[in-house]
Amino acid sequence: MTSLPFDDRDGVIWYDGAFVPWRDARLHVLSHGLHYGGGVFEGMRVYDGAIFKLTEHTERLHTSAHALGFAIPFGVPELADASEELVRRQGIADGYVRPVAWRGGEQLSVSSAGNRVHVAIATWEWPRLFGDATQEEGIRLGTSRWRRPAPDTAPVHAKAASLYNICTLARDEAEAAGYDDALLLDHRGLLAEATGANLFLVIGGALHTPVPDTFLNGITRQTVIGLADDLGIPVHERPLEPDALADADEVFLTGTAYEVQPVRAVDGHRYRVGKVTSALAVAYARLVRTP
Ligand SMILES: Cc1ncc(COP(=O)(O)O)c(C=O)c1O
Repeated sequence: MTSLPFDDRDGVIWYDGAFVPWRDARLHVLSHGLHYGGGVFEGMRVYDGAIFKLTEHTERLHTSAHALGFAIPFGVPELADASEELVRRQGIADGYVRPVAWRGGEQLSVSSAGNRVHVAIATWEWPRLFGDATQEEGIRLGTSRWRRPAPDTAPVHAKAASLYNICTLARDEAEAAGYDDALLLDHRGLLAEATGANLFLVIGGALHTPVPDTFLNGITRQTVIGLADDLGIPVHERPLEPDALADADEVFLTGTAYEVQPVRAVDGHRYRVGKVTSALAVAYARLVRTP
């Protein structure tokens, strides 16, 4: 994996309708999005040069902006075309695409009135998030003291930059404690998700996954539920108390970045990377490269 700084690379970034040199894709320090969290973003993966679920992700960028009260001044087809052209120009075969939209620096107060909305898209090569070995071994999660907020407290279904504060706090504490990632409960104390991925438990051969009422209903989550249906694996979407972790035989996470990521432990509970997780990981890996 490259260790180049993200703000100092060669190539181009699509910025407000034009391709600009990577290092020139800047914003002003008095941008509303930076001070008051008025920003939304997306994460898409590129497989064999093609962006997986491009339309769904681009539509979600618009939906997320709408949830924060702003409109993106470029349509879904225009952004999708720009993303594809960017991947071509950057020569990315297997990588990641990051669209981001934010309120600019025309006005700086809690009110958003008078601010323009800016959009940028960048892409880079990106391998498996936790490394190839974790597909066999799984990763370790620690339950966080931070919780996902209630839907009347934050726009929980938006991929909003401001909500990632909670994820960064949780992730940093988990890593400091020796875990790979954090598992967050919601405001009621029910199992919710990891810092960038949705949660599945395998209990008696069936999938059990929390109801996405306080967090992102991930595009990967929905894809994996479809794959489970195809494979005849029953899926139960239901409120899950933390006790359910003791009943699980297998645990895995799903997300664009995480793909299907096996989990070998949550706190003191240990799991094997079993047949159900492996079958879904294989089916997902096949699907993302199906032209
Ligand atoms: C907090 C959070 N939950 C869940 C997901 C999974 O969403 P998706 O599968 O659409 O990538 C993500 C990643 O986008 C995320 O950041």
